[in-house]
Amino acid sequence: MTVWGAAAVDEAVAGGAGAVHVGARDVVTPLARERARELGVEIVVGSPAPVPPTVPAPPPATAVRHWTLPDPAAVSARLGSAPRPVRPPSGALYRRGAPVARATAPARGRARGGGAGGTGRVDRVVVVGAGNVGMIAAMRLADADVVDEVVLVDIDEGRAAGIALDLTHTAALSGFTTRVRGVGTVEEAGRADYVVLTAGRPRTPGMSRSDLIATNAEIVGDVASRLARTSPDAVIVVVTNPLDEMTQHAWVSSGFPSQRVVGMAGVLDTARFQALASLVGAGPADGVAAWALGSHGEEMVIPLSQATAGGRPILERVGPADLDATVDRARGSGAEVVGLLRSGSAFMAPGTSAARMVLSMVADRGEVVPAAVLADGSYGIRDVYVGLPARLGRRGVQGIVELDLRPAELAALREAANRIRERLGALARP
Ligand code: NAI
Ligand code: 2OP
Repeated sequence: MTVWGAAAVDEAVAGGAGAVHVGARDVVTPLARERARELGVEIVVGSPAPVPPTVPAPPPATAVRHWTLPDPAAVSARLGSAPRPVRPPSGALYRRGAPVARATAPARGRARGGGAGGTGRVDRVVVVGAGNVGMIAAMRLADADVVDEVVLVDIDEGRAAGIALDLTHTAALSGFTTRVRGVGTVEEAGRADYVVLTAGRPRTPGMSRSDLIATNAEIVGDVASRLARTSPDAVIVVVTNPLDEMTQHAWVSSGFPSQRVVGMAGVLDTARFQALASLVGAGPADGVAAWALGSHGEEMVIPLSQATAGGRPILERVGPADLDATVDRARGSGAEVVGLLRSGSAFMAPGTSAARMVLSMVADRGEVVPAAVLADGSYGIRDVYVGLPARLGRRGVQGIVELDLRPAELAALREAANRIRERLGALARP
């Protein structure tokens, strides 16, 4: 019996198959069926005899992408110039062997920001909070060289300006043309296509994310309502903790449609699981596929029914005890880094994750990523921001994708939503 996952479908299609032939006793996962639908191929039971996939292959450049698949390739190509090799450190944003698709180059300076249509380039990304996370996000965005201008905003204006200048000095080293500015207010930053909102206080040892709620709610509420005036068409990617609650708070304070306010946590938590699973024998981190859903905290849900390594169920490579320990470690990774740093919290993976979400939207490839989104009734959850698989496009969240979760996984997800709702209730009380 072979278990056919999405990666196996990709491989069959990449190998030139017009249909995916599976055996009568094979198991075809819901994700695999969804991928086949997206690629426009049929899943046929019967001959020719199925050949179980052994090596995960990248999808064709036109495929709709899921989170575990490579970064939008348009990001890797500088528009209007010859393709360039992937370079460190931004190379981490692209998966090895990713197919490079060229996007159509708009004339530089042409008005195109935020509009539909996937030109693969935007005018301005504003990163609010030039602290550790904001700094890394700005660096990843500049390195990708698909944004005309990245503006760092911080109440400590000197810090924003200093980091902007420091980053500008890397232009020749990293080969980007993106301008980088640092200012003290979102008003000075100007109209943004995308905003990465990291302003706030980070955790210190012994501090939970929820301890931050009152302080950061004031900052996030103020910034979001001002952004609504300065950047009325922007998509906001919230990073500030506690993530799920702050994302909902930013949505309310901005008055934006929920599609344009999304929280970054699942991308980070999934990346942590991928990296940690790799350390216990799951193979290369980028061959691990998983979803970190629920809350960015204790109620994080990593449904192992959906986790694969090298396109196969992850349990074939890692034993259940190690896997459970890996889930726990991923859930506690934020605190683990805080404990080691002793001052401040993780920033490299978080900043990279936030930039990754923006780049995915810029590339407009319909990638499905785990993100804090306003639940719409999918999974039996409604009207609360919680981590779910979300399809991203140029204008933000295009929809929520339903995975075929086991009953216990679904219950845990609903419980996470309930806990977030409770904390939001406490936030609303004076
Ligand atoms: P940091 O302290 O290094 O940076 C925060 C920056 O925000 C500071 O430079 C501060 O001056 C600035 N700031 C404060 N109020 C502001 C305002 N009103 N306008 C503009 N700037 C303002 O903190 P770090 O490490 O960058 O973390 C930022 C936030 O992201 C924290 O809340 C942290 O808990 C959260 N975080 C969330 C993660 C996630 O997965 N969602 C992961 C890592 C961090
Ligand atoms: C993290 O997960 C502190 O939320 C932050 O690293």
